[in-house]
Amino acid sequence: MITVDQQNLVFTLHTRRTTYQMKAGRHGVLLHTYYGPRIRGGDLSPLIQLADRGFSPNPPEAGHDRTFSLDTLPQEYATSGAGDFRLPSIQAELADGSRIVDLRFCGYMVHQGKYALEGLPAFFAREDEADTLTVYLADAVSGLRVELLYGVLEDCDLITRAVRVVNGGEAPFRLLQAASLCLDFLRADLDLITFDGRHTMERLPSRAPLRPGVQGVGSVRGISSHQHNPFAVLCEGDANEDHGLCYGAMLLYSGGFQAEVERDQFDNSRLVLGIQPRNFSWTLDPGESFTAPEAALTCTADGLGAMSRQLHRAIRRHLLRDPWAGKRHPVLINNWEATEFHFDLEKLEGIAGAAAQLGAELFVLDDGWFGVRNNDRQGLGDWGVNEEKLPGGLERLSERVRALGLDFGVWVEPEMVSEDSELYRAHPDWALTAPGRAPTRGRSQLVLDLTRTEVREYVYRSMGQVLSCPGLVYVKWDMNRALTDVWSAALPAARQGEVCHRYVLAVYELLERVRRDYPHLLIEGCAGGGGRFDAGMLYYTPQIWCSDNTDALDRLGIQCGTSFAYPAGTVGAHVSAVPNGQTCRSIPMETRGVVAMAGTFGYELDVRRCTEEEKAVIRRQIAFFKEHWDVIQNGDAYRLTDAFRPGPFTAWQQVSADRRRSLVSLVTGGASSNPPFAVLRLKGLDPELNYRINGGEERWPGDALMAAGWPVPYLPGDYQALQLWLEAE
Ligand code: GLA
Repeated sequence: MITVDQQNLVFTLHTRRTTYQMKAGRHGVLLHTYYGPRIRGGDLSPLIQLADRGFSPNPPEAGHDRTFSLDTLPQEYATSGAGDFRLPSIQAELADGSRIVDLRFCGYMVHQGKYALEGLPAFFAREDEADTLTVYLADAVSGLRVELLYGVLEDCDLITRAVRVVNGGEAPFRLLQAASLCLDFLRADLDLITFDGRHTMERLPSRAPLRPGVQGVGSVRGISSHQHNPFAVLCEGDANEDHGLCYGAMLLYSGGFQAEVERDQFDNSRLVLGIQPRNFSWTLDPGESFTAPEAALTCTADGLGAMSRQLHRAIRRHLLRDPWAGKRHPVLINNWEATEFHFDLEKLEGIAGAAAQLGAELFVLDDGWFGVRNNDRQGLGDWGVNEEKLPGGLERLSERVRALGLDFGVWVEPEMVSEDSELYRAHPDWALTAPGRAPTRGRSQLVLDLTRTEVREYVYRSMGQVLSCPGLVYVKWDMNRALTDVWSAALPAARQGEVCHRYVLAVYELLERVRRDYPHLLIEGCAGGGGRFDAGMLYYTPQIWCSDNTDALDRLGIQCGTSFAYPAGTVGAHVSAVPNGQTCRSIPMETRGVVAMAGTFGYELDVRRCTEEEKAVIRRQIAFFKEHWDVIQNGDAYRLTDAFRPGPFTAWQQVSADRRRSLVSLVTGGASSNPPFAVLRLKGLDPELNYRINGGEERWPGDALMAAGWPVPYLPGDYQALQLWLEAE
């Protein structure tokens, strides 16, 4: 719900449990007055106190009122060059060479329903589920105008934001930054949590109190990156899973981003989130506009767990699109870790057949099936099937796989080209390369310049040949290096700062076309595992391969970090062979299954080599997952152990919406001698109900399970796991 106090120009956005407020204050400065737990309303601008602060200058309209300074006011969209020295939201080089953007309120509009963004991912909602507020700001001198869009999704406590910058003047200007979100707080006693890591160890949470100055994370890699995720949390210092005020902010964007927080001289703080400004510029001619990607915010006073559940709900209901939204993704068998590039029809059929007998539903043919590709230095770009490996092409394999009772899926990496490929030999200039420079290789490959129409068309056509294979229901869309040599022959020198963003728009355009022309396809996103695991990608690819690391112990940390923002049903997770290919660690099959089941479940090993015992475990796991998937995928998720204080085990829980069914999973670390006994306190149950454990005789009241806990038995050995299936009587 959006309420507007027209007289005082106070705009209040209410969700079910939160309130967000802004006010067009004196001299048309758009003030941010409140974001937090729901309140009735009113005008909260008296919270903002003014004082004459040395070295904080005053805009001309303030005359000699030295208490009014942009440098000290909390604002909705911070300007640059006009007296606010803190983090800007927008920067531009104007026609006269100046870099002053001074924005003032000049109008607003409220409408029912949620805005959409052309060519960009965005949360969506039915007309009756959301409202939109648009606030218009303008820089009087240059004619630069800004439209701030606010989507209010009441049911899941989500406020979305997007920004359109319009050149309403007479001369072109160069946009140097256009953040999607600026959020000011009249406090700085907050912790910043970011999700950081590296290839094969993504999204590990790291938490620290705000210190004076600017702190933050970002990516300059052209993808959202393994190193930092475009999601950040600000929370009270004592906030934990169950208590405390928490703000979650995510960017729906799959390219370079920047998330920064500044704690200023007066212990106020400002979060700015948006496209990475480094190396970015965008020329706007008169009448043109630029749309910054969407950001989404949630807030709760009930701790990090509640924050995550709100985001999960929002993503499930308002970001994942049909036909897969809410549906079970097939249990798959992928051949990558089993064969890498070395396979033939018989081997693939063997693996698929063995998995089919245990209950798998989809066979995914990974890398190495096209062009001449026997290692990762060749073949990318040549999407014709390699008939030496697969006589009869994908069609024959698809037929064979379907005869085994499985659906068929395939891996592609459309954004890339190998120098050793027909495509590169024919069009060396199609790779991102700057004039006179040899391009930098990543995984021995180059990036196609998707900003060029002819390159995009080639990619789409060649993908079309793959995706129209009869029986194909699934595609894994991979991307295995970061962008360098960012220069496009399609753009003049002055516009080269646009290439990275245009690249991301091109990827979105391709994915949208695939969705439109092959609406039945389930697309799995991937970038060397989780290098592009972001909310932008989820709009197109409702599951994303979470990490190239399939070691169950490492995965606990990776998946736990991922769970702060993203729901289990989006997290690609497989059981692989031991010793694990990435860590050499051996973890029991039972445990590997429990961990993979916390995501979209699948296997990535040569099932033929499993012992009969292991096969029996796999059969049980698949049957168990098929029975309980909806609680895992669509239920409420609880982290039962503290991500910031690792203990002897990691535990998590999913609870059905009616709280009658729940799955508890627990995995231990390395064994230790003579260990203390642990009690596991469960969450999210109905205190009034009694729960039956694992279909047996054991029964516990919900209130006792939550208040007193459940006794964790001694689990001898390394990396043991247990699962409790709770069903209310
Ligand atoms: C990436 C993916 C893997 C696999 C390989 C194939 O690393 O993340 O899952 O598909 O490429 O080359």
